[in-house]
Order: sequence, then structure tokens, then C-alpha cells
Amino acid sequence: PADSAPAGSEVERPFSKVVVYGSGLMGSGIAQVAAQYNYQVTLVDLNQNMLDKGQGYIRSSLKRVARKKFADDASQQTAFVDNVMSRVKVSTDPVKPVEDADLVVEAIVENIKVKQSLFRSLDEAAPQHTVFTSNTSSLPIGQLLAATSDQRATQFAGLHFFNPVPQMKLVEVVKAATTSQQVVDSLTAFCQSIKKSPVHCNDTPGFIVNRLLVPYMMEALRMVDRGDASVRDVDTAMKLGAGYPMGPFELADYVGLDTLKFITDGWYKEGEGLVGDGLVAPSKRLDALVAAGNLGRKTGKGFYEY
Ligand code: CAA
Ligand code: NAD
Repeated sequence: PADSAPAGSEVERPFSKVVVYGSGLMGSGIAQVAAQYNYQVTLVDLNQNMLDKGQGYIRSSLKRVARKKFADDASQQTAFVDNVMSRVKVSTDPVKPVEDADLVVEAIVENIKVKQSLFRSLDEAAPQHTVFTSNTSSLPIGQLLAATSDQRATQFAGLHFFNPVPQMKLVEVVKAATTSQQVVDSLTAFCQSIKKSPVHCNDTPGFIVNRLLVPYMMEALRMVDRGDASVRDVDTAMKLGAGYPMGPFELADYVGLDTLKFITDGWYKEGEGLVGDGLVAPSKRLDALVAAGNLGRKTGKGFYEY
């Protein structure tokens, strides 16, 4: 199909079966893009409702891609969507899908204990060659891989995609202290095979993008808390004055306010070089929105209503 790497193309394809954990905003996007480029994908979540939601995200995103590719041909659009969807299986079984996986991409909730517990159980079930990765925004890869065996420690890295995955070109490939160069090379080739642009970095809080982006979003919150400007004016200013596609509050709503809070709370308490740092200090405004269940676009309300 168009917009997919033709079988046997010149691009190196280091894996064949990819298993993605978490069918939320990120996991569904990662599954979609891998399937678009001909990988066999299994998407895993806790229950069928979450999987239905994830499949819904994928289908509507694929329709957008298809409308652009086959502008005048509705039947080609439908064929494209169905073809990609046919490569995305879903499962609520927490471990079975990894038994024949080549690559695991974890994109579940940003909670270290929950992630460690998942990786511990996957390590027991997965073959030795399976490469484990996490899409974590903020947690140390070294602490996630500590939940697995010593053999897996060389086969474990960060693979950090950006939201919305189908549209954002970047992936950060994060090398933890024990990650082998061979695994970094395979993940780099994987990114290229799904038409993403990889960058490489060490395992430090926020990697490259979030280390810069998250303090910026928190500084915007502090500006509004001081009463120096409104949410709307800060967003307008950063779009029209700095060329950002979204202002910091639109972006926070897009990322998810719960995820933003998990990131900053974690760094404030435990982030290497960031513990107690005013850059990532908690914000009462953010805390109140999260406590009320207003998590941004995904719940229909955050700083704005959708
Ligand atoms: N699926 C498929 N295509 C999509 C899409 C999706 N989910 N979302 C957007 N697109 C496509 C549209 O079809 C459109 O394509 P064309 O231009 O080729 O027609 C293009 O993207 C632009 O979309 P829109 O016209 O609807 O809207 P826009 O111009 O406002 O762009 C945006 C939307 C790409 C999201 C843009 O606003 C943007 O880049 N925002 C900033 C996003 C960002 O910074 N993300 C990083 C967040 S931080 C993070 O992810 C890390 C973390 O760990 C928290
Ligand atoms: P989300 O809330 O949209 O989705 C998380 C999904 O994980 C939910 O469907 C939930 O049911 C599922 N889940 C929770 N525990 C699970 C388990 N044990 N097994 C299987 N599924 C489980 O979250 P998201 O925004 O997709 O974020 C997922 C991860 O990606 C987080 O680590 C986050 O920090 C990271 N991330 C988020 C963004 C963003 O902009 N939202 C960007 C890059 C990275």
C-alpha cells in the first residue's frame, strides 16, 4: 500500500513483530505508525474498552492520512485504512503477546511502580532476543530496566515518541548505562523504517525535548498564577511571537494534564539534578484541574473546553 515501506525495500527492518503496551494517546499512535510501515503489531491494554478507544484513535487518524493520500478516491481510502488496521491485533492478555515479540514498546501510565511491575512480568515471558523499550516522558530508563534480568539490561532502551505520533517526526533513542550499541543501532534502523527521525541521548531526566519543554510549560503556569497575563494571551503570544504551533496551555491540554503532573511531581521529588527545583515546582492551578478530572483534550476540558 502507498505510504508503507514496500516489502523487501532497501530500508533495514530489524524487527518483525512489535508489541505495544497501552492503547492511549501514545500507544495507539505508535501501533498505527508501525502497522503503516508493514510491521505486525499487537496492542495491549487492561480491558476491551481501552482497546476500543485506541482502535478508534487509530482509525480516525488513518482516515486523515488516507484523505490526503487518496484525495479523490474514497474506495482507495477505505482500502488503505482496512489494510493498515489488519496488521493491528489487540489483546488484554498481559504477557502472552510477548512470547513471540521482537520489540516491546511500553506506553502505559507514567508511574514507575506500574511500569516496573509490567516489565518484570514481561521479562519472564519474552524470548531472550526481544528488545524492551519504554516511551516514558520522564522516568529513568535505568530504574525501569532494573526490574528485569541482567541479560535484558543490554536489550533495554528508551524509545520516546511525540504527540501526535502520526505527525511528529522525532523519536529520542535513549541509551541507558547498560544498553548495548547493537540495540541502539537496531532501534535507530527501526525509526528510519517507520519514517521517523531519530536523535540519540543519555538517560537523564526529560532526555532532550522534555528537559526544555516541561520547564517552559511550568514557567507559563507561574506567569498566569502571578496574574501577569491570561492563559489565552500567553498562548497567543507564544504562537504569534515565537512561532510555536501551539501555546504552552494548548500544548499542556494536548499532552494531558495528568501526564504533565506525573512528570513534574516525579522530578521535583526524585529527578536527578531537579529535586526541589523551582523549574518543576508543583502548581496549585495544575493540581486543581487534575483533581477535578479535567485532564485536557482527552477528557474534553483542561485549561480550555473542547
Ligand atoms: N493523525 C494523522 N494526522 C494528523 C494528526 C493525527 N493525529 N494530527 C494532525 N495531523 C495532520 C493533519 O492531517 C495535517 O496534515 P496536512 O498539513 O498535511 O494537511 C497536519 O497534521 C496539521 O494538522 P491540523 O491542520 O489539523 O492542525 P495544526 O496545523 O494545528 O497541527 C499539530 C496540529 C501537528 C498537533 C500542531 O499543532 C503541532 O505540532 N503542535 C505541537 C505538538 C507538540 O509540540 N507535540 C509534542 C508534545 S510533548 C511530547 O509529546 C513529549 C512528552 O513526553 C509529553
Ligand atoms: P494515556 O493515559 O492516554 O494512556 C495510557 C494507557 O495505558 C491507558 O489506556 C491505560 O489503560 C493503559 N495502561 C495502564 N496500565 C496498563 C498496564 N499495566 N498494561 C497495559 N495497559 C495499561 O497516556 P499517554 O498519554 O498515551 O502516555 C503513555 C506514556 O507515554 C506515558 O509514559 C507518558 O509519559 C508517555 N508520553 C506521553 C506523551 C503525551 O503527550 N501524552 C508524549 C510522549 C510520551
